[in-house]
Amino acid sequence: MDLKDKKIVLGISGGIAAYKAAELARRWVKSGAEVEVVMTDAAREFITPLTMETLINRKVHTDLFPKDEFSATVHIDLADWADVLIIAPATANLISKLRMGQGDDLLSTICLAAWRKTVIAPAMNSNMWVNPAVQENLDILEKRGYLVIEPSAGDLACGYTGIGRLPDPEIIDFWLQYALHGDRKLKGKTVLITAGRTEEEIDPVRILTNRSSARMGFALAEQAFYSGAKVILISGPNELAPLPGVEYHSVVSAMEMEQEVAERIEEADIVIASAAVSDYRSKEVLFRKMKKGKKEHTLTMVQNPDILAGIGKMKGKRIVVGFALETDNEEENAKEKMRSKNLDMIVLNNPREPGAGFASDTNKVTIFAPRKKALKLPLMTKSEVATRIIEEITKLMKKRKSK
Ligand code: C5P
Repeated sequence: MDLKDKKIVLGISGGIAAYKAAELARRWVKSGAEVEVVMTDAAREFITPLTMETLINRKVHTDLFPKDEFSATVHIDLADWADVLIIAPATANLISKLRMGQGDDLLSTICLAAWRKTVIAPAMNSNMWVNPAVQENLDILEKRGYLVIEPSAGDLACGYTGIGRLPDPEIIDFWLQYALHGDRKLKGKTVLITAGRTEEEIDPVRILTNRSSARMGFALAEQAFYSGAKVILISGPNELAPLPGVEYHSVVSAMEMEQEVAERIEEADIVIASAAVSDYRSKEVLFRKMKKGKKEHTLTMVQNPDILAGIGKMKGKRIVVGFALETDNEEENAKEKMRSKNLDMIVLNNPREPGAGFASDTNKVTIFAPRKKALKLPLMTKSEVATRIIEEITKLMKKRKSK
């Protein structure tokens, strides 16, 4: 996560989840953000300002009229300074005040001024959460344009099990980045993304697969979602955390991936095939584990369907983007693949480049599009690569629209 130079105001209201705000602030500072913290009186019953001050290396704001500095407009100063105001945890009481437009302490008053850029992360007991007053207040706030992060389910500090937990930091980070992204150039569009490796069964314990981690595909899904698209992510096995807001379909084999894609392609305006699909599968899948006996063994393989080539054949008005992973004659092979699969763009990555390839967090790619100069990108994080790919797709869409 890159939050370099982002200005975040973290508002903490008084629930037991207040202690989790410390971890959030720490993560954001570590990711390069400037963080200011505002605490209500009740929040200070749960966690001390000193904890927060130590983590953000700044003074915590608590008073509407601070005694030790002259500023009658600290609420406006903070609201104007912030790129985003995130309230985590947001109590039922604070939510109610937001709905009413009440400003009787520093945090609620900042909220009045920063309403266009406020993210609310409610956390409370599950009975409080289902209270119609709380639900109605949040519905209204959402209608007014506030971003509300659903609390997660699980064990609650009060001893209950149910909905009401402050979501894990990764989920809060996802929505924070969504809020910070700002432009929604793909609003109204549906992006279908294939990701990860496929696993082809040989017998009940053995598979044929590759080292794809699915990170590139997940990064693309994330950036497409931040750009306002509806995102359908179809991925082979992976160890990555699910992406909130993204429609996810898990598959194992290439045949399953083809099936899932076929069921969802109608909806898609943009298709990005980043999956490392196994080209072959074993002709026979054994029901019992293969025995060791023979000195030599030949496995007969049959070709898997080329999912992307299939999409290219019936693509209609869709924008279709593929990936190429080449170890020799890279450019020529990539361009030939773009032509033969009827693609609008192909992203070439060379696994021999240091820092590029399956398992790493970084990638070094060149983007080709017909009749356009190749765009050679330096080594960057997969998240940055994804941002650039989405940018190029957006440009292409704009160009088509203007024709
Ligand atoms: O032909 P090659 O496998 O190198 O092409 C790579 C591109 O084609 C990638 O975008 C990959 O997701 C896609 N592909 C596919 N189905 C296959 C093989 C590759 O969709 N069976």
